[in-house]
Amino acid sequence: MTRRTKIADLIRTEPLNTEVLVKGWVKAFRNNQFLALNDGSCAQNLQVVVDFENTDPSLIERIKFGASVGARGQLLESQGKGQRIEVKADEIYIYGDCNPDEYPLQPKKQTLEFLREIAHLRFRTNTFSAVFRIRHALAYAIHKFFNDRGFYYLHTPIITASDAEGAGEMFRVTTLPFDKTPRTENGEVDFKEDFFRRSTNLTVSGQLEAELGAMALGQVYTFGPTFRAENSNTTRHLAEFWMIEPEVAFNDLNDNMDLAEDMLRYVIQYALDNCADDLKILEERLIEEEKSKPQDQRSEMNLSDKLRFVVDNRFERITYTEAIHILKNSNQNKKGKFQFPVEGWGTDLQSEHERYLVEKHFKKPVILTNYPAEIKAFYMRQDEAKEGVPGPTVSAMDILFPGIGEIVGGSQREERLERLVNRMREMHIPEEELYWYLDTRRFGSCEHAGFGLGFERLVLFVTGMSNIRDVIAFPRYPGNAEF
Ligand code: 4AD
Ligand code: MG
Repeated sequence: MTRRTKIADLIRTEPLNTEVLVKGWVKAFRNNQFLALNDGSCAQNLQVVVDFENTDPSLIERIKFGASVGARGQLLESQGKGQRIEVKADEIYIYGDCNPDEYPLQPKKQTLEFLREIAHLRFRTNTFSAVFRIRHALAYAIHKFFNDRGFYYLHTPIITASDAEGAGEMFRVTTLPFDKTPRTENGEVDFKEDFFRRSTNLTVSGQLEAELGAMALGQVYTFGPTFRAENSNTTRHLAEFWMIEPEVAFNDLNDNMDLAEDMLRYVIQYALDNCADDLKILEERLIEEEKSKPQDQRSEMNLSDKLRFVVDNRFERITYTEAIHILKNSNQNKKGKFQFPVEGWGTDLQSEHERYLVEKHFKKPVILTNYPAEIKAFYMRQDEAKEGVPGPTVSAMDILFPGIGEIVGGSQREERLERLVNRMREMHIPEEELYWYLDTRRFGSCEHAGFGLGFERLVLFVTGMSNIRDVIAFPRYPGNAEF
């Protein structure tokens, strides 16, 4: 019995003139003879030459686009153009038929919107196979990056009682009944009766727990699902997304920026080195997509140029205050072309402002630092106006990418107990509930910093796809939790 060989292995090792058994799905079948088979192990199809004169016609009839088939025969150097090797089949096996009249996928271009409606089948297209192989490679590269630098992978909880970002956009976790909800004497929901004897939610970030780990293990990172019940129907937001959150003791804001930049460059280089065939498929897809846009909105760079550009250039680092200055004095602002005019210091930046800085002004990734404390989370370290005097900004950093906007958000953390407690009081964050977090500042506190990388935003950038719903297998967004 010949054992099955994966197509990727055949292409890599080319064991010519031996008998092989391949299994996969039909991508194309020409002239009752040339079968293009793909098994998902790589982007390439393997050509199988069917001996149609000596094969049962009823079997040939069943070789349809999408069917699951096998072929056993000699691996030979290909006589035809377009491929180096092919299998001359002695035997064809049909494992699963695929009726073309009923199959929603067709061997032609189908829109991403349509494919999103049949997301359970879209893996089978060249585009989505490529996206998900690259997504895997990026996840692996991230683990490798941190492992090689002595970080420990920390599994922070998915169910938690804390709201790390203080933004309140949480999905509740409960086993309480909806009809007979237990109530306290004051008429409030009695969470003492709930599974955890308290109110709980799905995590919005593993940061606070990662900080606990960093205070002993030195350098940790999380890589897990996070959940946000923000009602954002955009091409950049998901209700369930994956986040990578490193946290490092004794790092300050500059170390934090260096780490984030090194990580992004490393993982993008990894994709360039290891995903060339899949990137080529997506680059061609993007070229087609760009053709349907007006000339002035088309990108000047193709996908691989864009990736290489990020790898080869240092990111621009400027403060929020400098950014406001640039934006305020831009022609765009003066001519009233921003939907949200830039009034002055203190306002949050809109994505049109972020994109202006990255795509028009600097034309490269930008790290914005030292934001007003008012628009950032409670745990960020307060900057000093001068020695010992708190200023209005915090040691925050956001990394902005072309076409994406914010891809990373992070900060140096407030390690001074008194300052942290004051800030929490100002923001009405209950100290009792975060006693465990405050304990890190009570006992052996030290300077530390970390950030969060939105994994899907990274995959979006590297694959050149335009909607975040197309880079996660089963997207969750308002009104959708299919599968
Ligand atoms: O800026 P955010 O909210 O920061 C945090 O959660 C911090 N606790 C991170 C840290 O310092 N450890 O989120 C971090 C990143 C964003 O920059 C963005 O890339 C991504 O997570 N992100 C989302 N991605 C997809 N859908 C959403 N709804 C997202 N919200 C944030
Ligand atoms: Mg942010």
